[in-house]
Amino acid sequence: MNYETPLFFRVMKYADAAGHDVIDMVSGNPDWEPPEALRRGLHEYADFEPDRFQYAPSEGLLELREEIAARRGVDADQIVVTNGTGEANYLAMARALERDRGDEILLTDPVYPYYPGKTTMLGGTQRYVATDDEGRLDPADVRAAASEETAAIVVNTPNNPTGAVYPAETMRGLVGVAEEYDVILISDEVYDHYDLSGRFASALETDSANRIVTNGFSKSMAITGARVGYAIFPPALVADAKSRHMLVNVATTRPGQYAVLNALRETGPDYYERNRDLLRERVDTFTDALDAAGAEYTRPSGSFYVMARFDGYPGTLANVERLIDEAGVAGMPGDAFGDSRSEWLRFALVTPRVAEAAERLAAYFD
Ligand SMILES: Cc1ncc(COP(=O)(O)O)c(C=O)c1O
Repeated sequence: MNYETPLFFRVMKYADAAGHDVIDMVSGNPDWEPPEALRRGLHEYADFEPDRFQYAPSEGLLELREEIAARRGVDADQIVVTNGTGEANYLAMARALERDRGDEILLTDPVYPYYPGKTTMLGGTQRYVATDDEGRLDPADVRAAASEETAAIVVNTPNNPTGAVYPAETMRGLVGVAEEYDVILISDEVYDHYDLSGRFASALETDSANRIVTNGFSKSMAITGARVGYAIFPPALVADAKSRHMLVNVATTRPGQYAVLNALRETGPDYYERNRDLLRERVDTFTDALDAAGAEYTRPSGSFYVMARFDGYPGTLANVERLIDEAGVAGMPGDAFGDSRSEWLRFALVTPRVAEAAERLAAYFD
């Protein structure tokens, strides 16, 4: 099987090797502080007895699953604590394909590239549903693409790369399509704390035996290196997902789970609000410069990303490399996210140098 290395790594490597100063707007690694209680939890952990350095329960620490369950209004038994949202998505997609309903996974275009990568790895096939220019998804288009071949519909809100936030009626509509065709809606909500619009609606708001919600703390707590995420399964689907998780991982990091639990209990809403405010400021700075450069762009309603289109400068890997060499700014090629954005570039606003990057781009495209 051909496991394609995500393009993201290739662009980062090219930028690292450039030999001059390049502003990294490729990765989704937050540059802001994790919650103080997260750091405190990790410090405390170092002094625990040896037994706390042994395997955690495979499905996750009970206290963490209970904390998540209380916040999300589900039963702790439905939760598997995973090695980030990435593993949660893998478990969810594998579980949907195991139902033997079909091998097709409905994805959006543009798409977060790990979804088609996982689909291929799991032996499934991709079918794409277009979103509109703002990244909005119409459940009627998903319904039109669904068939007996469909195993799952995978969506992401707030969205990477478009920054779209799907409103409650979209989420209800998507759950409705999943039920109508008896397929699984997988809703990846890893950017839920970066909803800048106030319109975010979790798929959990519509109770259903046909939806799996995935999430994690990589983005919300600025800890992509800690690798703590989770999936919430319908009761009928959870046992097999737990087995797969156990066979693949044994369990997830115990110190990481402890620190996340500590942070969940002790971090107030002001931490998340501060991060959203920072992001709002960066969106303004960056889009002002894009205006000055005469670029077209989508203003994100959530997540960390801005997609931009510069006249006569399609979003190919070659052009991304040229931008690294000639402007000192690294973004992602739009065509990594699907056919519809091949003219576009994606910039991640997770660098303190957003203003400088914006100036470089404005000067380069002047
Ligand atoms: C849409 C989406 N899902 C999942 C992930 C991976 O998250 P985690 O670090 O929790 O595995 C990312 C990371 O960029 C993402 O953008």
